[in-house]
Amino acid sequence: MDPIFIAIFGALIASLYLSQKQILNYSKSFTSYYKNYFSYSNPPTPNQSRKSSYSKDGDAQIPPEPTPLMITPDQVQNYDDRPWRPFRWPYHQTMAIYKLDINHWLDMDKYYWHYIEEKQRIWQKYGKENIDWLPEGYEPSLELMEMVTNHLLKRYPLLFTLLEDKGSRGKVVKNELTREVIDMTMPLKEHPLMYVTKMAKEDFYVVMKNPKDGLHYLVAAAVPFPGGSFGISAKIGKHLDIIHEEVPYYHEKLKKSMERWFERLTPSAPVERASWYMTWDHKLRQNGVYQRDSDKVKEEAKSYSPEDYNVRVERQTLRKLPKSQAIIFTNHPVFYSIEEMKDEPMIPSLLRKIIYEAPEGIIKYKSFELYRDHISGYLDGLIQRQKDLGIIDDDTPLKTPATYPFAHWVKADFDYINGGFNNPSPSYNKEKSNYTEQAKKELIDD
Ligand code: HEM
Repeated sequence: MDPIFIAIFGALIASLYLSQKQILNYSKSFTSYYKNYFSYSNPPTPNQSRKSSYSKDGDAQIPPEPTPLMITPDQVQNYDDRPWRPFRWPYHQTMAIYKLDINHWLDMDKYYWHYIEEKQRIWQKYGKENIDWLPEGYEPSLELMEMVTNHLLKRYPLLFTLLEDKGSRGKVVKNELTREVIDMTMPLKEHPLMYVTKMAKEDFYVVMKNPKDGLHYLVAAAVPFPGGSFGISAKIGKHLDIIHEEVPYYHEKLKKSMERWFERLTPSAPVERASWYMTWDHKLRQNGVYQRDSDKVKEEAKSYSPEDYNVRVERQTLRKLPKSQAIIFTNHPVFYSIEEMKDEPMIPSLLRKIIYEAPEGIIKYKSFELYRDHISGYLDGLIQRQKDLGIIDDDTPLKTPATYPFAHWVKADFDYINGGFNNPSPSYNKEKSNYTEQAKKELIDD
């Protein structure tokens, strides 16, 4: 592309962004009160924000803007998330991050309604176990709320409507998917994270650097779908090293690069990553595999047919907010049944290899031992099936697929079709693969 065009376009986006920022006057009383409490590193003013020590071109503080995707609520009902296949071999604990195309910060798919309904149920039933904040989390949460609102309005013009723009006094937005009118007039009636939760289906973690020790702490979190055995009440206010205490090889392999990496992260360069584990159910808050009652888990693991097992992908993004410099970590679970992936080259082979031969700590953390003997025969059958169908042969190398972290049939442009993505395998059944109804039944004894 012509560099002059890029420069003019960049300047236009920047001026739009800055004027918008200038009219935002976050509740000052909160800011000064909490500044004393936590003493933020001075957030850049809009004018300063063009200068950055991290970027030669000075644009590091300018977040990228999404492009509109004209999907309607009806189309979303049939829409699939990007087909994640984050299976690596060899499998080591690494940062495993890659550049995020901002259009996919908050993706849309046919499970949107299910996630939003589940969020409401979880808030009512579990409250602070899944959503919590410290006073110093207020200001960045407010900035996050603005960012989520602006992103959704811009990216999905037919799914979110701006009913009223009150400038520094906030916005009133209609969520066309749930038909809810979301009144974000200042002063807000609820915590900003509650509004974020009514619009986006992702889990949100707000992390701030404490200037006193230069380390990163979790200051607010809306995490209805942790999936595993941790509650957010145990993580709030904690340093990232403590939060990752249970994570295998964190101290040896990740700790050092994490702090360095957080220092360098800029608003202009968001990233994403994906992790995964296997389970037999679709519960969002806590999967069967991570229930606390270990006898019950063992029993349950065997009571499900191997065909019922699926992979839960934890789709994660990281970005920095320009004003507060808070780091926003999102996590979003997406389930894929093994059945729907069975004709994708090497997927059954990779899963089998990983559940038996991944590093010991990872095997334990992801509870592979609990069910691997139960499903290995099924995976062996699928591997043989791939050989019989000529999808793989004995010489096909077992390694990270070239299209990692996505399915082999994915084309580069994820917006190329408004109908979302369908697994093109003849054995894929789109109807059957919609797990919403199944998931609702699973919640009955929750
Ligand atoms: C580049 C940055 C990060 C990396 C490389 C990373 C890596 C990991 C890894 C490897 C795990 C284990 C699960 C898995 O296999 O993925 C994990 C778990 C987790 N991460 Fe991170 N993480 C990052 C940033 C964050 C941030 C900013 C937060 C926000 C507080 C966070 C919160 C968590 C939580 C709550 C868990 C679950 C821990 C548990 O099981 O008790 N992570 N992370």
